[in-house]
Amino acid sequence: MRITAFNGSSRGKKSNTGIMVSEFLEGATAAGAETEQIFLSEKKIEHCLGCFKCWVATPGKCVIKDDMAELLEKVITSDVVIMATPLYVDGVTAILKVFMDRLIPLADPHFEQDENGEWRHVKRFEKYPKIIVISNCGMPGQEHFQAIKLHFRRMARNFHSTVVAEIYLDCGELLRSPMLVLKPIISKYKKNLHRAGKEFVVDGSISETTARKLRKPLISGERFIKEANSHWDRLLSKLDDKN
Ligand SMILES: Cc1cc2nc3c(=O)[nH]c(=O)nc-3n(C[C@H](O)[C@H](O)[C@H](O)COP(=O)(O)O)c2cc1C
Repeated sequence: MRITAFNGSSRGKKSNTGIMVSEFLEGATAAGAETEQIFLSEKKIEHCLGCFKCWVATPGKCVIKDDMAELLEKVITSDVVIMATPLYVDGVTAILKVFMDRLIPLADPHFEQDENGEWRHVKRFEKYPKIIVISNCGMPGQEHFQAIKLHFRRMARNFHSTVVAEIYLDCGELLRSPMLVLKPIISKYKKNLHRAGKEFVVDGSISETTARKLRKPLISGERFIKEANSHWDRLLSKLDDKN
């Protein structure tokens, strides 16, 4: 099984998203998958021009000369792609969205109805990769992921694919927290990510037990907000000292 992760965080290799993806992929690799994490922030990806030349002039290929040709090849030759992003303004980052827009050469321009009578594009390829979503956000609460959950389901439908697993972590900044008291909690969370990667390769899905553990808050929302607000106060008081 070939799994390619596309990490859309602006922080690239230093991102919380990167930590989540790495742990998941390590588990997947241990179970025999061929895996790769691509940091989109390091790639040259121009905005889609909306010219539709990839449909009518050079079918299947974009006319923009940048890193996207290589990335499209990686998408279509993967069995599974991981769309990985921190939550930015309740959605995916602009970096990931630009990449997603540039996936349209993979679709055929014609329209057809799906099994529910909804319109979508016809397939250009026999097989499209399945989709895993991995995301983290700053605030407490799984409800923050409502919009991206729906977004990826709709995107998968249009690309003849399905979302086969989702991992969402709220209070995501805790992953890189130096607080000693959090060390065992974070280490347990990472072990569960590793387990999820393994389970996915072996069983084709993440078990409900592991998924439930991954949905559990690292600490209570109240405690997080108290710590976070003190953190912002400390940083802002340094600014007051300077002025
Ligand atoms: C521009 C911007 C927008 C953000 N929007 C949200 C948001 O809508 N909801 C939220 O809970 N966190 C939001 N965050 C916080 C990030 O999701 C959070 O810091 C995350 O841990 C960053 O992950 P990364 O290290 O993988 O980039 C935002 C951060 C930035 C910089």
